[in-house]
Amino acid sequence: MGGGALARPRALSFLEADGCTWVALAEAMRADGSGFNLLAVRRADGQLVGGVGLTIATGEIGYWLGRPHQGAGYGTEVAGALVRAAFEIVGLDIVFAFTDPANDRSRRVLDKLGFAYGGLREHDFALRGGLRPAHHYDLTAARWRDLNRG
Ligand SMILES: CC(C)(COP(=O)(O)OP(=O)(O)OC[C@H]1O[C@@H](n2cnc3c(N)ncnc32)[C@H](O)[C@@H]1OP(=O)(O)O)[C@@H](O)C(=O)NCCC(=O)NCCS
Repeated sequence: MGGGALARPRALSFLEADGCTWVALAEAMRADGSGFNLLAVRRADGQLVGGVGLTIATGEIGYWLGRPHQGAGYGTEVAGALVRAAFEIVGLDIVFAFTDPANDRSRRVLDKLGFAYGGLREHDFALRGGLRPAHHYDLTAARWRDLNRG
């Protein structure tokens, strides 16, 4: 798997302050039990490559990779692991994801995981908060089980 040959999509530039906001949000979510954020570590060498998060009440998932680790196929793996945890460990019936309109690579990750497209609408992003247009996606536990029936 890999998207290295394709052009890098127009990326939101994330600053150190955004990283600090993410850590603060993660700590608050862990403290009040409203969700969790996990770091993704490459098995082969222990390298930190990115992170994922789930807000339990809304079923919203998020995922990101450090820039050197983008385009190598990890996105689908880390987002897929989070979806599995949301359904099999947390017991949610549905999860949601929201992408920036220009983020075709993230949309492809969601397509590959079986998410259904719900249209372009405003979404209130926790990081860099405020309403922005976003592509809405959802995946039900029933559909996920159908797709992953082994
Ligand atoms: C979005 C992100 C998680 C994707 O993970 P990734 O490992 O880089 O993505 P992949 O390399 O697996 O590529 C995913 C798919 O997108 C395709 N793709 C890559 N670049 C693309 C582009 N510019 N346009 C369209 N599709 C693209 C790949 O070909 C691949 O599909 P394929 O497996 O069918 O070939 C990662 O790039 C990232 O962290 N970006 C910054 C943070 C972010 O955007 N998070 C998501 C917020 S919603």
